[in-house]
Amino acid sequence: MRFVILTDTHFLEQGGTNYAIDPAERLAAAIEIINREHNDISFVIISGDLAHWGQLEAYGNLKSTLASLRAPVLLMMGNHDRRMPFREVFSDADKDPGGFVQSLRVYASASLITLDTLDEDGPNHAGVLCPKRLSFLETALREAPLDRPLLLFQHHPPFATGLPHMDRIMLRNGAEEAEMFDRIRRPDYMFMGHVHRPISGVWQGVPFHIQRALAHQVAFDLHTRERIPGTHELPDYALVSVTGRDIMIHTRSFLYDGPIYWLSDPAAQAAASVAELGT
Ligand SMILES: [Fe+2]
Repeated sequence: MRFVILTDTHFLEQGGTNYAIDPAERLAAAIEIINREHNDISFVIISGDLAHWGQLEAYGNLKSTLASLRAPVLLMMGNHDRRMPFREVFSDADKDPGGFVQSLRVYASASLITLDTLDEDGPNHAGVLCPKRLSFLETALREAPLDRPLLLFQHHPPFATGLPHMDRIMLRNGAEEAEMFDRIRRPDYMFMGHVHRPISGVWQGVPFHIQRALAHQVAFDLHTRERIPGTHELPDYALVSVTGRDIMIHTRSFLYDGPIYWLSDPAAQAAASVAELGT
């Protein structure tokens, strides 16, 4: 099974920009490549912060931009989202018994849990898994078949990454999630958004992947706490392949428009400038 991850699209109303970025333009560019090069994928998942201000017009803009995507799309909630306007536009979105945008999907090659960590009434942008959502996770961990990898998606990391400005707004009760892993089952892989930076590692014995946003990025800054430093690094998407128990993740800077050259080409090796490498 193959699928593509995009995250933190931060959509605005049609034509709207934020930090000199039009998210709809970027998503359209990603969709064009995905349609052309990845026609064997099972789905594209967008792991939260679909809209920057959570407004109805932004979800409408997202829906019309996604209309050209050939693969099915799975949409998740992030701290910038609002469930009511989201559901107004995406009326067939996931809805668990507690009303949250969560799901367990069992595919032939892997199972997929998507969690809703949005805390709409919270004092800041931190996330939470309330008792109802933890109960959903517990059931999903128990029901997911043991004979195939279990992939867990959630917007907020349940651990500190070392970026103080983002760690202030991580998932508030990651310890409860860790306890559940200990008690029931560890997913084979975790995937998150929120941080707008590429980070990988292992948490509580579970390898994880965090990738750049579709929209603006966050600077590599291990010191600032009060404000979030932004950058204009290019966005990535990830192509995930699951084969048996093996999981391979490629991240691609899909807006890169610089030269591509043969490493074995003597002319490229001798180039004195990027311009001499061609296009
Ligand atoms: Fe975000």
